[in-house]
Amino acid sequence: MNVAVLGLGYVGLVAATALAGAGHHVLGIDLDKNKTQALQNGRLPLYEPGIDELLRQGISKGTLRFSNVTDVVELNCELVMVAVSTPSLPNGAADLSQVKSALKWIIEKTKKPVVVVMKSTVPPGTGRKLIDMYFSSNPLKHQYVSNPEFLKEGQALKDWYHPDRIVIGSECNEAVKKVKELYVNTGAPVVVTDTTTAEMIKYAANAFLATRISFINEIAGLCDLTGANIDDVTKGIALDPRIGTNFLKAGIGYGGSCFPKDVRALDFLSTANGYNFELLKAVINVNNRQRFWPVSRLKQRLGDLAGKVVAILGLAFKPGTDDVRESPALYIIHLLMEEGALVRAHDPIAMANAARFLPPEVTFTETAMEALHGAGAAVLTTEWPELVNLAWPEVAHCMQPPRIVIDGRNCLPAKALLSCGLVYIGIGRQPPGASL
Ligand code: UGA
Repeated sequence: MNVAVLGLGYVGLVAATALAGAGHHVLGIDLDKNKTQALQNGRLPLYEPGIDELLRQGISKGTLRFSNVTDVVELNCELVMVAVSTPSLPNGAADLSQVKSALKWIIEKTKKPVVVVMKSTVPPGTGRKLIDMYFSSNPLKHQYVSNPEFLKEGQALKDWYHPDRIVIGSECNEAVKKVKELYVNTGAPVVVTDTTTAEMIKYAANAFLATRISFINEIAGLCDLTGANIDDVTKGIALDPRIGTNFLKAGIGYGGSCFPKDVRALDFLSTANGYNFELLKAVINVNNRQRFWPVSRLKQRLGDLAGKVVAILGLAFKPGTDDVRESPALYIIHLLMEEGALVRAHDPIAMANAARFLPPEVTFTETAMEALHGAGAAVLTTEWPELVNLAWPEVAHCMQPPRIVIDGRNCLPAKALLSCGLVYIGIGRQPPGASL
């Protein structure tokens, strides 16, 4: 099939490379000319495992091409996938300006009917409004399909080729059939529904996963106060198949380009509809609170943080990506700097991205050991395997007393750290009776 993908961020690039890899002819389009030129020359603007190879193959076979919006004279494709961003507005609502510009542009550039597939995350009810605004009066009778993505950064290709489900929301059977063809080899169950329901599925999924994280963070806080152990509590509840194990890792909270903005947008949508979604507000508040936790623990232990060297291990919002959008690590660094701490930070691949959002006083180090050298405290903020598996006796040797390691992801071997002489602090992982 001839497919155009509009917007070449994480989702658009994964979609474009994966569709080309599956044998479709794909034209990737973006506003940023530098980006499309670099892509045409085989250079990726971001890190996502596996897409570099697909990009090379697609370009060499000629099945994957890139163009700047202004260079496209006419869109000659059966299907246009819209994957532009829908960032948060200051009031929490999703900013749909890029989506609207994309639809206007599609109308301008098409002479034949196309199926417009909305991959961008848009609030429930948006698709219907967009159809009314842009397509109802258009003589070409374009079809609109909501086809939310469920890609996890770092494993996006795997999620694309082996999805848990495909959700297709449309009022047009022919368009549904066409979109199904894109996923024909995945074997995944397909949920066909109306556009608004498909949009709600996306928000409900992200909000539910975020709720699990905030829930377990609440329980971990209570574990700290009662002396219970969060690891065993999680194990004990997760063995119930109705609960399961996923998204129950306590820590400094969720970040990234999706959960924070989608949960906020759903909350805004609820309020705008006169509905008080109390649970969602609590999810947001708990997540915001979690970022203060490492800083308040450090203040408890060290007193005034002014002039104290703190190592930050990990800047990406999770391992496997160089994405730092809404990364808890960045919030924590800002809080530490407000307290006057001297921050040294290391991340295997996200330092360049993080530097754009951090004050120049932050020192970035080539290795984790350099960040830890002479530091009295460290906070593990992203559970990269190379950070989790540091040589802890060596860490203890190179840090300064009191050698505090705050485990912001509850992923470090507490006993091993303690036996090296490090002061280990996890969330809800205190030994019974320990003072907080
Ligand atoms: C998330 C969803 O998992 C995808 O299904 C969805 O498609 C995507 O958003 C999106 O809407 O585009 P992603 O943002 O890549 O994917 O990241 P996740 O793996 O879901 O992690 C989100 C955050 O939650 C990370 O900061 C992670 O560290 C945190 N997390 C995750 C926890 O704190 N505890 C957990 O148990 C799991």
